[in-house]
Amino acid sequence: MPDDSSAIIRSARTVGGVVRIPGDKSISHRYAMLAAIAEGTSRFHNFSAARDCQSTLDCVGKLGCQWKRVQDEADNDRGAIEVHGAGPRLKAPAETLDCGNSGSTMRMLSGILAGQPFTSELCGDESLSRRPMARIMTPLSEMGARIEAANGGRPPLKIHGGRLRAIHYRPEVASAQVKSCVLFAGLFADGETAVEEPIRTRDHGEIALRAFGAEVEQARNMSRIVGGQRLRAIEAHVPGDLSSAAFFLCAAALFPGSQITLPGILLNPTRARLLDILVQMGLKVSVGYLEENQGELVGTIEARGAAFTGGIIAGADTAALIDEIPVLAAIAPYSESGLEVRDAKELRVKESDRIAAVAVNLRKMGAEVEECPDGMRIPGGQRLDGAELESFGDHRIAMAFAVAALRAEGETTIRGADAAGVSYPRFFEELRGVTS
Ligand code: S3P
Repeated sequence: MPDDSSAIIRSARTVGGVVRIPGDKSISHRYAMLAAIAEGTSRFHNFSAARDCQSTLDCVGKLGCQWKRVQDEADNDRGAIEVHGAGPRLKAPAETLDCGNSGSTMRMLSGILAGQPFTSELCGDESLSRRPMARIMTPLSEMGARIEAANGGRPPLKIHGGRLRAIHYRPEVASAQVKSCVLFAGLFADGETAVEEPIRTRDHGEIALRAFGAEVEQARNMSRIVGGQRLRAIEAHVPGDLSSAAFFLCAAALFPGSQITLPGILLNPTRARLLDILVQMGLKVSVGYLEENQGELVGTIEARGAAFTGGIIAGADTAALIDEIPVLAAIAPYSESGLEVRDAKELRVKESDRIAAVAVNLRKMGAEVEECPDGMRIPGGQRLDGAELESFGDHRIAMAFAVAALRAEGETTIRGADAAGVSYPRFFEELRGVTS
C-alpha cells in the first residue's frame, strides 16, 4: 500500500497548458539573506514557495530580522514577502539555526555569520547532515572566522564570527553556493575579496548584491567585492524557477505534439543552458516577452514536443545543468540515442546521491543504465514499465520520476513524494493539470 506521501502517476497521452512556475529558489534565498542585512524594508513578489526558502526566512528571523507575508494587490494567489532589514549587524541567535534540507541556506548564510561578532550554530536534517561543508569552512577560516563541524566537515556547524580579512579564493569545486558565501563574507572584510572559479557558475549572488546597491566586479570566472559596503532595501519580482520549469519542459519533450507555456521564467544565461540542450534534443522552444527584473533576464517560454533525440552532457555543461540532470536522465531511455552524463561527481553529494538514485529507479522501471563514479550512460529507444519508486527524500528525484512515469506502461508509485515541497509544493497538482 502506498504511504501517506506517495504519489501515483498514470501514463499520459499528451501534455498541454499554461503553468505559472513559482519564484526561483536560488534568487529567493539570496534576496532574503541580503534583505536581512540591508537598511530598510524589502518587498518580494513571487518569492519562492519552497520549504528550503522558508528555512532561510526562519533563520534570518532568529537573527533579529523581522519578515512577514503580506497581501499582493497584483497577485492575490501568492502574496508577497516583506523583510525588515536589520542592517549589517544581526542579533546573536538564542537557539540553533535549523537549515532543514537546505544546503543553500547553510552555505550562504555562513558567509554572513562569519562576519558577525557572535557565535552561531547551524544544523540540518538527516540529508543535509551528510553534505560537505569543508568547501565553505576553508575560505571562511582563511578570512579569519573559526568554524567547528562534525566529522569530516559535516553539519552541524558552529561559527565564531568576527572581523574578516579579504582573500583571493580559488575553489576546487565549481559551486555558486560557495561563491556567494565568500562574496557575502567579503562584505564584512577589510579590502577586496575575489573568487576565481574553475568553471563559471550561476551569478545570482553578484546580480542580487548589485540590486541591493553594492558594487561587484565580474570578469570571466572572477567576481570581486570590496568590504564595508552598505546595502539598501529593494522591491523585486522573483522570476519563475527554470529548474522547476525543467520538469514541464521535459514532460513536453516526451510527447510529439504537446504544447506548454511557462510565463515569467528566469532566463539568466548562467542557468539557461537547459533550453539549448532541450532544443538539441528536439524540443521546439520559443522565448518571448523578454524583460529585465533587478538585473535578471525573464521571459515566457513556449515549448512543443517533436522528435526526441539524445545527447551528451559534460564539462561546463554539467555544472550549468547540475539541477536538471536528474530529470534529463530520467526521461533519457525514451530518447532515440540515449544520454551520457560525465564530470558529474557533484551529483553524488546533493540532497541524495543523484546518480545512484536515478540508476535505482530507472532499473526498477526495467531500463538499462550504466553507472560510473562521475556520471552515467543511458541507452535510448527503451520502453519502461510503471513501478514502485523511491524519492530518496530528494525533491528533484521525486519530480524527475513523476515525469518519466508519464510515458511508462502502467502506473507508477513514488514513495516519499512530499519531498517535492522542498522546492515545489504544488508540483503534483500542477503536473496533473497539464497531462491527459
Ligand atoms: C545553487 C547552486 C547549486 C545548485 C543548488 C542551488 C545556488 O549548488 O545545485 O540547487 O543557488 O547557488 P552548488 O553550488 O553546490 O553546485
